Amino acid sequence: MFDMTWTGRVRFGAGVSAQVGELLRSLGAERVVVVTDENMERLGTADRICAHLEAAEVHSCVFAGVEPEPSVETTDAVAELAREHDCQAVVGLGGGSCMDVAKAVSILITNQGSAAAYQGQGLVKVPGVPKVMIPTTAGTGSEVTSTAVLSRKGDGFKGSISDDRLRPDYSFLDPELTFTMPPKVTASTGMDALVHALEGYTGRQASPFSDLFAREALTRIGKWLRIATWNGKDLEARSEMLLASFYAGVTLANAGVGACHALAYPLGGSFGVGHGCCNALMLPYVVRYNVPARSDRYAQAAAWLGLGTEGWPDREAALACAEGLEDLVEDLSLPRKLSALKAGIEEKHFDALAEVALGMADFLENNPRPLDKKACIVLYKEAF
Ligand SMILES: [Fe+2]
Repeated sequence: MFDMTWTGRVRFGAGVSAQVGELLRSLGAERVVVVTDENMERLGTADRICAHLEAAEVHSCVFAGVEPEPSVETTDAVAELAREHDCQAVVGLGGGSCMDVAKAVSILITNQGSAAAYQGQGLVKVPGVPKVMIPTTAGTGSEVTSTAVLSRKGDGFKGSISDDRLRPDYSFLDPELTFTMPPKVTASTGMDALVHALEGYTGRQASPFSDLFAREALTRIGKWLRIATWNGKDLEARSEMLLASFYAGVTLANAGVGACHALAYPLGGSFGVGHGCCNALMLPYVVRYNVPARSDRYAQAAAWLGLGTEGWPDREAALACAEGLEDLVEDLSLPRKLSALKAGIEEKHFDALAEVALGMADFLENNPRPLDKKACIVLYKEAF
């Protein structure tokens, strides 16, 4: 038995973001808020999207101040702006942070109070206004999922609003918008997508439905991530990676993630290391730890990633998967050791980091092999 969830409508292809105005107009929206960041403003992407909106007589107000680890406070401020301007729809333009804030703003326009009141599972009472996502990175999966991760400046708490009502209504996947991503962002967001697909495929909640998407994501990432990273203007590589991110997002939405995400989260929360970067770093160690529990699935993943292990015994192929991932991280010039991050992480922090990781109970329960605090600390030590 399995339960599958799908996303809203998705339009994919070079140049499709130009159609966003028409779509919003057809929904009857006359005023929308565009939620984005400084980068999109500086690169002129926000202006281009606003011009497409204006051409369809949809008026926009732009909030270009979303920060990398977006906060409840920022989200509340954007919701206030959207209410003041009587916005009837929300456009999330950028990476996962911008899309997460946009999704939360959509439900705050119609529900009272602060985003903090909705952090948790299924707390949203009234459906939000239509939300349209336009990702400009390829990896977070936020264009598909029904969660928004927000931190609180006051007490440093970082938690998700997780509710079906957060699921995007429309996503415009336009690979041309990912041309501007620098190599490091391409590499780290692409690795995040890889981890979504691999943790979903090897996790306890994997289903025949999520497996389909995991396979398609891993096959594409294995073939195209290096090319997209080092040849950013290659349209085919950018298209395949954007599609892979979408497929990995469907896997994530249906099958969840595992120990790699649990161990990566506190590195982002306490030391500000980028989400994809932490995941890429921790992944080979987590895979080696998990091999005894699901060598069959890691062996299959190795074949999909193009590691040439077809016909090998499962255990050897699964261990080759960990090695192949290390080579990939190296080829992408991402850090392979915590000590190389220059983020101030020291061995004395491992106990507290493991404590936070253990708090990510959903992730750990989905991991194929159980982890206790000692196992978390051992993995941090190996990765140091
Ligand atoms: Fe992730």
